[in-house]
Amino acid sequence: MGKRVVITGVPGVGKTTVINKGLEILLAEGVTYESINFGTFMFETAVQDGLVRDRDEMRRLDRTIQKRLQKNAAAAIGKNEGNIIIDTHCSVKTPKGYLAGLPEWVLRELNPDTIILVETDEDQILMRRLNDPTRVRDMDSAKEILEHQQFNRSLSAAYAVITGCTVKIVKNQDYLLERAAADMAAVLR
Ligand code: AP5
Repeated sequence: MGKRVVITGVPGVGKTTVINKGLEILLAEGVTYESINFGTFMFETAVQDGLVRDRDEMRRLDRTIQKRLQKNAAAAIGKNEGNIIIDTHCSVKTPKGYLAGLPEWVLRELNPDTIILVETDEDQILMRRLNDPTRVRDMDSAKEILEHQQFNRSLSAAYAVITGCTVKIVKNQDYLLERAAADMAAVLR
């Protein structure tokens, strides 16, 4: 069984950007990981079932439906045997409150060695969301983004207690993407 790393962070913090850059560094050294987007697994099933047309609609689905999609995604991803990095969420902000992204039944399937929490200042995240026309982002205030990041820290501590995994915080600040990618690569080596 390979290494299993879960990477999380609030929408727009730059998880996918950091993963792509970090994996480039590792590939140059001959270290390979398969990058898996948890939301894409959920989305494909949701589209097949006629529930959504774009991925930003998923967090507004009924909680029981989101849980079913989450469970199916975790079971499929958990079958991987090589080194994998799973791009997902500590919590999803739904209209009815935060939904845990890695509840016990998801953690059991993924069984991560490490959870990476990508963070940056809330005003930088706000600007990144405003400047990303490809997505229908929630228009949270800087204070709400701060609250979401704090909630995610609490959740990752709980996930560490359940699984025994480590939790690494990686800062992805404006103009410092290279540093974030290097920090991430150091965890994956
Ligand atoms: P997903 O697609 O993962 O949604 P997301 O959080 O919106 O992720 P993105 O990939 O769009 O954002 P990102 O943080 O990776 O930022 P990016 O690199 O694009 O998930 C979709 C949905 O699936 C979720 O909403 C949820 O409904 C569901 N889901 C997923 N996991 C789930 C789970 N476990 N349980 C239940 N539901 C789940 O960067 C953003 C912008 O910032 C870009 O423009 C980029 O250029 C810029 N940027 C990045 N880094 C920097 C930097 N250092 N300096 C300047 N700009 C930067």
